[in-house]
Amino acid sequence: MTSTASAGPDTVADPRALLTDGKQLIGGQWVSAAGGETIDVINPATGDVLGRVPRSGTADIDAAVRAAADAFPGWRDTSPVIRASLLRRWAELCRSHIDEIDLLERMEVGHPRWGPSPVPAVIEYPAGIADKITGQTLPSASPDVLGMTLREPYGVCGSIIPWNVPGPIFVTDVAPAIAVGNTIVVKPAEDAPLTCLLLARLALEAGIPPGVVNVVTGYGAEAGAALPLHPLVRRMSFTGSPETGSAIMAACARNLIPLHVELGGKAPQIVLSDADLSRAVPVIVGSITLNTGQVCAAGSRVLVPSAMRSSLVEALASRFASVRVGPWYEDVQMGPLISARQERRVLGYLDIGVQEGAEVVTGGHKLSGEKYDKGFFVEPTIFDRVTPDMRIAQEEIFGPVLSVLSFDSEDEAVEIANGTRYGLNACVWTSDVGRAVRLARRIQAGQVTINGFGSRGVIGAPWGGYKHSGFGRTMSAESVLDYTQIKTVVINA
Ligand code: NAI
Ligand code: MG
Repeated sequence: MTSTASAGPDTVADPRALLTDGKQLIGGQWVSAAGGETIDVINPATGDVLGRVPRSGTADIDAAVRAAADAFPGWRDTSPVIRASLLRRWAELCRSHIDEIDLLERMEVGHPRWGPSPVPAVIEYPAGIADKITGQTLPSASPDVLGMTLREPYGVCGSIIPWNVPGPIFVTDVAPAIAVGNTIVVKPAEDAPLTCLLLARLALEAGIPPGVVNVVTGYGAEAGAALPLHPLVRRMSFTGSPETGSAIMAACARNLIPLHVELGGKAPQIVLSDADLSRAVPVIVGSITLNTGQVCAAGSRVLVPSAMRSSLVEALASRFASVRVGPWYEDVQMGPLISARQERRVLGYLDIGVQEGAEVVTGGHKLSGEKYDKGFFVEPTIFDRVTPDMRIAQEEIFGPVLSVLSFDSEDEAVEIANGTRYGLNACVWTSDVGRAVRLARRIQAGQVTINGFGSRGVIGAPWGGYKHSGFGRTMSAESVLDYTQIKTVVINA
């Protein structure tokens, strides 16, 4: 592929050598878009072109869905033991290429090294379930009748995914779908499609048959919009913004197919008066600077008792000031935003916060200087004196922008925490078990973590939203079953 960007000090070989420039995977073949056009993929730290991917449209989606439909009967009828072992081989191949997968994702998303990628484990979890899925035998009113249920795959699944953590999100949809015998067409985001193409290549190399995993690249309005409308697609999943999720849901309604959606959040981090601040502060800072705030789970609101506000803000500010920002190939904690468009969005919210009367404690600007000028760098920013009605307290910014709100009672904390359209995840910092239990129950979110961020250390934790954060769950045993439909079989003697 075009090699204008430096891979930096990494010792890993350039992972783009594993891709075919300008091609996508349909039915086991690396092909161009029917229209022949391509989209440039940009290194967000420098603006350089990393490579090109096909600019697909309806015809390419149609070709991929047909390839997936052709592959479906054979894959459905493959022994689940074999399917499981092919998935495990895929996971092993990912493990042996983990540095290339990781580097490619960092190049196109712009994030620093995070440590071991979860990709292999995300494939292995549903692989372990694939050959253990059972139906039921049903009670019968007569000895002459036998009733049972079978769990069967849907057929062709469609998946539209975002650019922020493409590797893990790709396998989160693909692995459970194919583990239970579905085939799939994935439309990655135009801003970061390369990691998905590499993972699909490794699936093919692992022996997963052609057509089981297809990747069609392109813009949302062109390639993406055609997928949920295709008559051979039997189930959809989507991760991204509520606006696009709503459009995809409308398309699924026209096509009468089910979907699950994950649509972001505005996660509250509730710091109670008995919290251990020395533990909480670094985690809060990490949870809003992780991936430059471009994660659906980002801990973007801190809720603090009025009496503790100034001391907590001071502690957060000194930690924010020490966050190392720079290109992903240097030893930094935070990279650039993904694109000029995302930078405009975040800078827009920095203006909105000031206009709304919030107080900038630290940050608040685009970063400038030789290291930053060609990329999309903004300062990690804290807004203090934020009130619940402000847009910076309500809307998902998807940048390293933390809003601090204060409360005077536990009830008020819960009201503020629940007072947005979102309900994806929340954190509570307290040393009082009773308060932890009460708040865990009262917060409207798909995941509540006490004294931490996320579900690290827990295996198979369901992930998904309440309210406008979406519906359906990923990453768990239930979500593997969610890729099956139930058939009742009745046998009369
Ligand atoms: P988006 O939701 O528009 O894009 C996500 C995916 O949907 C991409 O693959 C895109 O090509 C596709 N898409 C866009 N329009 C489509 C359409 N009409 N039909 C079918 N597919 C379509 O998100 P975008 O525009 O990249 O980012 C805007 C905001 O959305 C972000 O600032 C952030 O707040 C939120 N977002 C949330 C994510 C999450 O993890 N929940 C991920 C990405 C964005
Ligand atoms: Mg969009």
